Amino acid sequence: MTEQPAPANPEGDEPIKQRKNGLYPGVSDELAENMKSGWADTELRNLQPVEQAPHAARRRAALSARFPGERLVVPAGNLRTRSNDTEYAFRASTEYAHLTGDQTHDGVLVLDPVDDGHTTTLYLLPRSDRENGEFWLDGQGELWVGRRYSLAESEQLLGAECRDVRKAADELAAAAGPVRIVRGHDAGLEEALADRLDADRDEELRIFLSELRLVKDEFEIGQLQAAVDSTVRGFEDVVKVLDKAEATSERYIEGTFFLRARVEGNDVGYGSICAAGPHATTLHWVRNDGPVRAGELLLLDAGVETHTLYTADVTRTLPVSGRFTELQRRIYDAVYDAQEAGIAAVRPGAKYRDFHDAAQRVLATRLVEWGLVEGPVERVLELGLQRRWTLHGTGHMLGLDVHDCAVARRESYVEGTLEPGMCLTVEPGLYFQTDDLTVPAEYRGIGVRIEDDILVTESGSRNLSAALPRTADDVESWMARLKG
Ligand code: GLY
Ligand code: MN
Ligand code: MN
Repeated sequence: MTEQPAPANPEGDEPIKQRKNGLYPGVSDELAENMKSGWADTELRNLQPVEQAPHAARRRAALSARFPGERLVVPAGNLRTRSNDTEYAFRASTEYAHLTGDQTHDGVLVLDPVDDGHTTTLYLLPRSDRENGEFWLDGQGELWVGRRYSLAESEQLLGAECRDVRKAADELAAAAGPVRIVRGHDAGLEEALADRLDADRDEELRIFLSELRLVKDEFEIGQLQAAVDSTVRGFEDVVKVLDKAEATSERYIEGTFFLRARVEGNDVGYGSICAAGPHATTLHWVRNDGPVRAGELLLLDAGVETHTLYTADVTRTLPVSGRFTELQRRIYDAVYDAQEAGIAAVRPGAKYRDFHDAAQRVLATRLVEWGLVEGPVERVLELGLQRRWTLHGTGHMLGLDVHDCAVARRESYVEGTLEPGMCLTVEPGLYFQTDDLTVPAEYRGIGVRIEDDILVTESGSRNLSAALPRTADDVESWMARLKG
């Protein structure tokens, strides 16, 4: 990669990262003058609003109604340094993306209170200045990182007034009245407003925005389905290259899925879990550096994130060789039955916990039947003894975040009631650790999870990931077909 322009005489110059918005030494006056002019007007006119714009406006109206008379600040977040002058890939904060449809780093959404609600302002980085050389001499200049939308263009795309983000901190600090900010995304802005902020009040804002995402609208459901559809193709890609993974490592699986995520979407929605053999018993195995061996299982938990940042979260546990052994199948079938019971419990009006309880009951029953834990089942469930092998909750809300709505209040989420438009995963599992002396040796090192993305509908539920086979027989014939 190319370094930023070097000064002619680096001796004594301040570090390159500090030389923002000004000419670097070593640039002749003639060159500086030359670079200012001779550029075409590329302003885009008559742009259509982004598809999210009306949905984002509706969400901002709900936010406005909840906090009348208060100034509300929702930052997108800033770039984070990876090393020296390179940055991590940027992913806008979920709250900002949900309320704006925009994903620009450093962006700040501000709702200013007025008599009958709020006005909306989006503070964004404008186009790079040609006069001061910023566009070609600053590391964030457009010549280095690509053209940005002008503020006027962004106004057309996003349907809100746009202002220069470099004025945001001063303008917000100067504005009178109460202010709340979504914390954790923009330390500079939080510092600028520090003496006006209150942690509890800010948390109320974050909780409200988390709960605002509990029920998805039609646009969001379409995006979740698109994320799942790409994910299904990614799983097919992986099955087709399993022999190459056997010759290399779990990384081949991670890379194969990632290719699909980057070509069809923005990214993966979370680190892909490509867990072969005993790694499947580690719930979030993302090192993905182990061998893939015939005869063992591959637990693949992965999701494509769309360009609008909605993610799928799907798991399949596949026999690497294409056929389950008898014991693998027995464990797989137990997890499948648990998942079926869980999915059947997803419907409007059901308690959120019902699907978890239904799945746990099936798993506890099997564990008792296999003699791994002493019954009766009611006792096992009461004491939670099955959890030695089931380990995690049976699912979670899904949306812009893989674990969406994570700061919603208990009464609206884990102790709440399912409503049409909610989308959740149902993902029971059984995990027998390699060092678990309480189970027969042949169980050790086997981990199975099956995870699907389930939308609550008016009449029941819809499995968005139904295109991927789930029964052991269907998995085997699907793999045989794809492996050729
Ligand atoms: N992939 C993380 C989860 O299933 O919750
Ligand atoms: Mn998952
Ligand atoms: Mn999940």
